[in-house]
Amino acid sequence: MPTYVITGTNRGIGLELVRQLAQSPDNTIFAGVRDINSDIGDLKKAIMIGSGDNTRHIIECDVSSTDSINTFIDVIEKRCSGEKKIDYLINSAGVNIASTHDSLSLIPENVLKQVTINVLGPAQLTAGLLKKGLLSDDVKVLNFTSGLGSMARSAEQNPRKCAGYSISKAGLNMLSVHQAGDLRKELPRSVVALLDPGWVKTRMGGNGATLEVEDSVRDILKVLHGLKEEDNGEFFHHSGDKVPW
Ligand SMILES: NC(=O)c1ccc[n+]([C@@H]2O[C@H](COP(=O)([O-])OP(=O)(O)OC[C@H]3O[C@@H](n4cnc5c(N)ncnc54)[C@H](OP(=O)(O)O)[C@@H]3O)[C@@H](O)[C@H]2O)c1
Repeated sequence: MPTYVITGTNRGIGLELVRQLAQSPDNTIFAGVRDINSDIGDLKKAIMIGSGDNTRHIIECDVSSTDSINTFIDVIEKRCSGEKKIDYLINSAGVNIASTHDSLSLIPENVLKQVTINVLGPAQLTAGLLKKGLLSDDVKVLNFTSGLGSMARSAEQNPRKCAGYSISKAGLNMLSVHQAGDLRKELPRSVVALLDPGWVKTRMGGNGATLEVEDSVRDILKVLHGLKEEDNGEFFHHSGDKVPW
């Protein structure tokens, strides 16, 4: 009876993760959305909430806000009521702002916003859930990064792309290396991994992307469910291959 927490689930990769995981009635899903009052019709359909069902939850979680993250954690704590722990935490919420700006034209407030959402969101959510004792002993934390967060991959690109986003995902990569060490001190069987979902047809990836979201998510779940203790701190491509740092 695994329990999943996923952020950014109203659309894109997060939504498809919920859709595929909801197929199994054994899965408990806590689906985070930035704004509960926005259009979350697709998510409601995907998560398949039945009457009296205690396994499917849609809860507001704006990962740019510490208060919103803390409220999200409090609601999860209440609904778990000491009986369930989180087996999988998937930090999917993310933004790519002003993607045409390069390192010579970037706007500091755009970069700060991306760091807040793409790095500090996963940092605070993971730490907050741990503090409340909500993570299982062998929790798997999956942080969605990008090839653009890889120093090696970015150095190969000409012209280089999405400077601010790339900087934020490189920051997420470093966060994950730290989390992999720090979480192990508290939960000796935990695994923190980074995953590049590929270039996916979502609002962020655009129509020109090479991967259908269904295919990317099928791969992502395969990698997630195959994670072993020795994968702690590793950087995976959705194909399961390792990505150079
Ligand atoms: N698509 C790709 O090609 C690609 C490639 C590499 C990595 N990734 C990564 O994969 C993850 C998912 O991307 P995607 O393609 O699904 O992007 P997307 O279609 O643009 O969806 C982004 C999701 O993040 C949510 N979000 C944005 N700001 C948030 C906030 N402050 N709090 C909570 N949720 C927030 C959005 O919610 P709202 O609709 O409410 O704003 C939306 O649900 C991201 O981390 C992205 O960087 C994607």
